Amino acid sequence: MANHLREIAEQGQSIWLDNISRQLLDSGTLKRMIDEDAVTGVTSNPTIFEKAIGNSDLYDDGLAEAVEKGLGPRDIFFQLAFRDIRDGADLLRPVWERTEGLDGYISFELLHKNAREEVLRTAGVMMEAALSMRSYTVGQVRPHLRVVEDEFLPQSVPAYGATEIMNQLRKKYPDYAYKEAALNPTNPRNRAVDWESDIVNEFRNNEERKEFTGTRVTPTGVSMYLARPFQIKDAACLACHTTSDSAPASMVKLYGPNNGFGWKLHETVGAQIVSVPLDTALARVDRTVAFVAATLVTLFLLLFAVVNVV
Ligand code: HEC
Repeated sequence: MANHLREIAEQGQSIWLDNISRQLLDSGTLKRMIDEDAVTGVTSNPTIFEKAIGNSDLYDDGLAEAVEKGLGPRDIFFQLAFRDIRDGADLLRPVWERTEGLDGYISFELLHKNAREEVLRTAGVMMEAALSMRSYTVGQVRPHLRVVEDEFLPQSVPAYGATEIMNQLRKKYPDYAYKEAALNPTNPRNRAVDWESDIVNEFRNNEERKEFTGTRVTPTGVSMYLARPFQIKDAACLACHTTSDSAPASMVKLYGPNNGFGWKLHETVGAQIVSVPLDTALARVDRTVAFVAATLVTLFLLLFAVVNVV
């Protein structure tokens, strides 16, 4: 019978197995899959190990040894899991060598990757929320504001509304931040700090670039950011951002004549940057690992007790 997996591999598609266990390793099944079915990689995560360890007695010796050594559940879990990862990696080594490092990997990162994706999704939602506040200010607030005795109302400015509301949110979620960071801002609190300036300049030098994501170490922990360019697309914006002479006098009185002017149509003047803590999401993943590990070890100790009593 033709081996369809091989045919797929011959079309240039890598075939990765989303499973690993001592059983797969010891029985030679994984080796056979690599040799005969063209499997070139393996992925794993704590749930896969939970099933592997929970459904087999092949881990019992390792568990007993680790418990005897006095290791905690978390360390026991990693010790057992990494042994499988190491042995799986050994089996994949010929693939890695044959493909000069392009394939032949085994991963134990899936949950961390999910955590990053989750954080970025949250950042995306915050970004959209800020944009909605901007359109709300333009569409529903500004038309109802009357100019009172030449007084300029920051509340009528979309950037102000979005930043204020996001700052309210920060009182409850201090690690979450939203900023309309500009190189030459009208309001000094919007001035881009060093790393933000780097992002803005990257957008200015590369107009194709529509989004940036990255990780930063901050005093409160690791944080991920999502950034999008702020480009002047509408000539109407320039009424207040060209020169202090052409801007409303009441605005200049409030903000001064030196900042937030000289912007040009189609110029990228800044970036919208949302920062979201990564630690919380990673801690949640770690808690999952700890939970899985504790469950397995408890189960084992219970069984051990039963077996020894009988
Ligand atoms: C009526 C005058 C006015 C108009 C029109 C206006 N802005 Fe502004 N803009 C301001 C003021 C005032 C601030 C500072 C608000 C604050 O205190 O946060 C500001 C702030 C900003 C900021 C944040 C950085 C900074 O300068 O502090 C950005 C970005 C911005 N505006 C972009 C735009 C864009 C894009 C448009 C057109 C869609 C626009 N502005 C139209 C007055 C205006």
